[in-house]
Amino acid sequence: MVLNMTRTIAQVENRSSTDTFRLDVLTGLCQPQKVTPAKHLYDEYGSQLFDQITELEEYYPSRTETAIMREHGAEMARQIGPGCLLIEYGSGNSAKTRVLLDHLSEPAGYVPIDISEEHLHNSAEILGNEYPGLRIFPIATDFTSNVELPEIDVPVRRNVVYFPGSTIGNFKPDTARKLLASIAELAGKDGALLLGVDLQKSVDVLEAAYNDARGVTAAFTLNMLTRINRELDADFDLANFEHIAIYNHERHCVELFIVSRRDQTVRVGNCQFHFAAGERILTERSHKYSLAGFAELARSAGFDVAGVWMDENQLFSVQYLTV
Ligand code: SAH
Ligand code: AVI
Repeated sequence: MVLNMTRTIAQVENRSSTDTFRLDVLTGLCQPQKVTPAKHLYDEYGSQLFDQITELEEYYPSRTETAIMREHGAEMARQIGPGCLLIEYGSGNSAKTRVLLDHLSEPAGYVPIDISEEHLHNSAEILGNEYPGLRIFPIATDFTSNVELPEIDVPVRRNVVYFPGSTIGNFKPDTARKLLASIAELAGKDGALLLGVDLQKSVDVLEAAYNDARGVTAAFTLNMLTRINRELDADFDLANFEHIAIYNHERHCVELFIVSRRDQTVRVGNCQFHFAAGERILTERSHKYSLAGFAELARSAGFDVAGVWMDENQLFSVQYLTV
């Protein structure tokens, strides 16, 4: 049950990031399948928890993608060529970027883009100390909205977008297509996209990766409620909720949920939401692709697949797409 929903939405005129967060949360909790957008998982603590996820034994994507970058980074850099402006979507701690930067010839600059502002600026500063000659232009924004590139005071041979982590998998295929098309537009003529894409595999491996034994993924998911309590004056009792990740065979994605342990009513600002025992909030989807399925999606967004690198078990792929 929702109180004052219309008034609450109508009051949101001049949108700060908290207003956007409030509107997204209230709108999402009004849906028959309650939902909160995945991008809001990344406040400062959420970003720190994600960094811990990348170190987990069960979470194969990060170490597998890093290994692919280490093995084939030189060839990727050769395909990209000298003098590129490297633009990274969802840069996080820029860990894999270092592998690419180590091989790139005279990049004109590096533009890390991330919604998690503090984490972005800290990571950019650390990277700047490690690569003193590199011009770095961090942009704290939602990359699904209009991205504006900074003015660069040296010649740029081409724009190359780096989008690792399989964050593209957190979007439904239709939305992923639109995001890819907007990347093609940003990259422009002669532009390219180096993209991490997670692949379909056994359900056991997938569900273990998102239900780790140490409960780091659970903490990451439940941090959404902590963030809502703090920023939106809500009263979620975290002891009354738990995390679960389940593979959806029809959609080919892992779905991550917050589950209500009991029948309860929660207040968010001046709205109230009822949760039946066992009712779920969908916090994230993580789509897993076949190579052929992803190639079709990329082509429909205006890209050609010019190169694909994988680990020997074909768990993960890094794909070089040209506009
Ligand atoms: N690239 C890193 C981090 C992946 S986690 C890696 O491969 O390990 C996903 C990253 O994307 C987070 O840092 C998160 O803050 C960022 N992110 C998620 N949705 C975003 C959005 N809509 N706009 C900008 N950044 C976003
Ligand atoms: C960022 N993204 C690709 C991660 C994933 O695997 O879908 C987010 C994540 N959520 C829980 N674990 C990892």
